[in-house]
Amino acid sequence: MELQKFSTDLIPLEQQNWQGRPEWFFNREHTDTYEQWYEGRYKRAEVWQKKVMEQLVSADSRVKTLLEFGCGTGRFTRWWEQIGIEASGGDISPLMLSQARHLFKGDLVMADSHHMPFKDNTFDALAFITTFEYYKDPVKVIREAARVAKHGIAMGMMNRYSPKVARRRMQELFGKNPFYLTATFYSPKKLIEIIDTALEGRQYSVRWTCTGLPKWFPVQQWSLPFGDFFGLYIELKD
Ligand SMILES: C[S@@+](CC[C@H](N)C(=O)[O-])C[C@H]1O[C@@H](n2cnc3c(N)ncnc32)[C@H](O)[C@@H]1O
Repeated sequence: MELQKFSTDLIPLEQQNWQGRPEWFFNREHTDTYEQWYEGRYKRAEVWQKKVMEQLVSADSRVKTLLEFGCGTGRFTRWWEQIGIEASGGDISPLMLSQARHLFKGDLVMADSHHMPFKDNTFDALAFITTFEYYKDPVKVIREAARVAKHGIAMGMMNRYSPKVARRRMQELFGKNPFYLTATFYSPKKLIEIIDTALEGRQYSVRWTCTGLPKWFPVQQWSLPFGDFFGLYIELKD
């Protein structure tokens, strides 16, 4: 039998679609520079995002292991480890994962958040950081997360109630910002409605907090639904 030789070339630059539509995370022009973006003017935002996510997750002392889906290059996945949580990552993009492989030492899986290749209750918690905005069927993803997670689900995302949303949509009109073309922006209230639909019949509580406020603002975190980013934690009680 003749063995077929597979190409070891990089994924071609023209291959940029996922679910039949162009996505920045399937385009090397954008994924190759993803980590640099965090190191630039986004740094202050990242510090606050991590601060609020740590508060939310550490309040549930049962969480010792965590699977982050939509982990990308592993920016948060390696940080969970730094705050003492044993983390693993999953993502649909081979381009993002190929970087995570070098930057993160834990386990990684290439899979879709809508179909997580894990048994029930495999991890103490599931986490989604700025990835939920891209999901076609958010109810299904929350049900998957509540199946694979034993104790809780942590979510951090761009807030619908932020002046940046209008700015991004305007940039898109002029073809300037490819990152959110297919994204849906949620508010805490809208997300809780989706959670309530997904988890009907389950016992849980939800807490959330917002950050991403202007630098000059007297507070950088609050419980009003305004700010660029909000963190939310679903504590499963059954
Ligand atoms: C903005 S990045 C966030 C990456 C990382 N969580 C972070 O905060 O830096 C969004 C990620 O979601 C991933 N993603 C989008 N849709 C997905 C899906 N259906 N299943 C798994 N990952 C998905 C993309 O490949 C991308 O890496």
